[in-house]
Amino acid sequence: MSLEEMEDLQLDEKDLRLETKEVNGVLMTKLISDTWDKIWNFQAKPDDLLIVTYAKAGTTWTQEIVDMIQNDGDIQKCQRANTYDRQPFLEWILPPPLTSGLDLANKMPSPRTMKSHLPVNMIPPSFWKKNSKIIYVARNAKDILVSYYYFSRMNKMVPDPGTWEEYIEAFQAGKVLWGSWYDHVKEWWEAKDQHPILYLFYEDMKEDPKREIRKILKFMEKDISEEVLNKIVYYTSFDVMKHNSMANYTTFPKSIMDHSISPFMRKGMPGDWKRHFTVAQNEEFDKHYQKKMAGSTLTFRTEI
Ligand code: A3P
Repeated sequence: MSLEEMEDLQLDEKDLRLETKEVNGVLMTKLISDTWDKIWNFQAKPDDLLIVTYAKAGTTWTQEIVDMIQNDGDIQKCQRANTYDRQPFLEWILPPPLTSGLDLANKMPSPRTMKSHLPVNMIPPSFWKKNSKIIYVARNAKDILVSYYYFSRMNKMVPDPGTWEEYIEAFQAGKVLWGSWYDHVKEWWEAKDQHPILYLFYEDMKEDPKREIRKILKFMEKDISEEVLNKIVYYTSFDVMKHNSMANYTTFPKSIMDHSISPFMRKGMPGDWKRHFTVAQNEEFDKHYQKKMAGSTLTFRTEI
């Protein structure tokens, strides 16, 4: 059964919010946790491309850019299916009869492009063995927090975020799905020098999408004309993608993702956190941030 076919089912929010269970101390859904052996033993191939992010860092945006590159800017081809069917979400396990990302990935013909939110030490080891390429996108903590909060309210499959104040605490403690943002971005930053990993920043992509898409092209060893490059910049801009039903998650049943609570394509701008943090919350967050990020060479811009 596809997610779209679930539209007819009368589902209660209580039944949808997936239970959670840790894997190696990192909060995951219980379904991921119970399927962990299969995920860990996933067989990567040398020509796989994996897009990895901490949740809400611009995954869908990067997925669309990559798909447009792979299809030489052909919009019709990129409209062939929803983002999550074009590029399976590797560790995302759904209750039967729904199709899980892992099953889609296993069935997919090569070359495959997939998405993951896993921390670096939880990536299936075959990706390192096969030297598969990985694009990692990082985004500043404050905008992630705001985006993740709204997403957790509108997406009934992830844990209820509670109040804004409660959510700030949960985020700082890493008690949210996929664990600590701080560990995620730092550990991937360390890993990038040992593997074929392109480490990008959401803020850079927003500042100069053409420059960042060129980095992706080089990493993918692809060459396209200036005309196609301009086309990709246009069709992957926030305002255009917001209306692309194959990329904006509006085909999900409303019982799962309720865009009237908050659209998936919400603001798409660095610095929106300023409208949400009080002065006191911001000061406390900065203090905690300094401690968590001490010793790392990784720096972020919280506005552009
Ligand atoms: P906001 O909630 O801050 O608006 P992910 O795909 O990793 O779940 O990330 C979702 C975030 O990326 C949302 O952030 C969404 O609006 C933003 N986003 C999606 N497409 C974008 C685009 N083309 N340009 C800029 N931001 C985009």
